[in-house]
Amino acid sequence: MTLPARIHMTEVGPRDGLQNEGRPVSTEAKAAFVRALVEAGHTELEITSFVRPDRVPQLADAAELCALLGPPPEGVLYTALVPNVRGLERALEVGTIGKVGVFTAASESFNRHNVNASIQKSIERFVPVIEGAREAGLAVRGYVSTAMGCPYEGPVNPQKVLEVARDLHQLGCDDISIGDTIGAATPADVIRVLDVLLPEIPVERIALHLHDTRGQALANALEGLRRGVVSYDVSAGGLGGCPFAPGASGNLATEDFVFMLDGLGIETGIDLERLREASALIEADVGHALASRVYRAPPLA
Ligand code: HMG
Ligand code: MG
Repeated sequence: MTLPARIHMTEVGPRDGLQNEGRPVSTEAKAAFVRALVEAGHTELEITSFVRPDRVPQLADAAELCALLGPPPEGVLYTALVPNVRGLERALEVGTIGKVGVFTAASESFNRHNVNASIQKSIERFVPVIEGAREAGLAVRGYVSTAMGCPYEGPVNPQKVLEVARDLHQLGCDDISIGDTIGAATPADVIRVLDVLLPEIPVERIALHLHDTRGQALANALEGLRRGVVSYDVSAGGLGGCPFAPGASGNLATEDFVFMLDGLGIETGIDLERLREASALIEADVGHALASRVYRAPPLA
């Protein structure tokens, strides 16, 4: 089995992790969490979303958070979700976001619930967003949600995932994050989707975004590693979920993934102990135990 020697992680805990939390988390606590994640070694962090504040109240303080954090340290990228031009304008105004993420889906019903538009309409909206981001010197990521199952429609055809990923690729997205939004996939689904994507989309442009609702995320990520995928979205402590995807729970936990990668001898650049400190900070703020098994287990002697 040949696995990559090094992989890249995007820490989505401050965005995907917190967007689904009911209890308000203060802007100061979010900033402390982001700083601690950077201390742990993360170099790309999705810190918030510039979406409608009434739709995702937990992230309504996006501009305040960015102001509080200031510019990222050298070599670190702060990224944020932007659904439309209004979102991009808000992201550009804060001046410290180096990459924006546009997001659509492989199933119509989820996309309508999430962004109030058809897949086609949402992709049309991205054209000026991507152009504007490029002009401002920002990198761009595109998300394809519900790539391995939709909460409203059930199984999703991998050909649909390819169609949407191809559009995002042709529009110039630097990376395309393939989302198992509700954690429906097993490794067989990861294989099916990658078999369709990899002949057309360069593997270095693909990221996997694996929710762990049914405990499959690590096994699914391992299948990605076997296929040469080197970019993964992770969330400290296993926080996460989408308010518009009923039943979706946390992402692949950063601690669990780093523990497995350390064991496989794959470089991550993340210090597991510092990561636990970051998770402990946010655990106190969200007010419930975090899901990550490695976070909860005592450190090995
Ligand atoms: P809409 O209502 O269709 O937008 O929302 P609209 O263009 O009709 O505008 C309506 C009002 O919203 C206007 O205000 C706009 O200015 C305002 P009014 O004139 O009536 O006062 N508005 C905005 N305000 C602030 N920021 C904006 C913005 N845009 C419009 N950017 C929209 C469409 C997409 C904006 C909305 O549906 C929305 O914000 N949805 C939230 C989507 C979201 O955040 N979902 C969770 C993240 S995605 C996810 O979790 C999946 C992922 O993790 C991958 C995976 O797991 O698969 C990425
Ligand atoms: Mg997600």
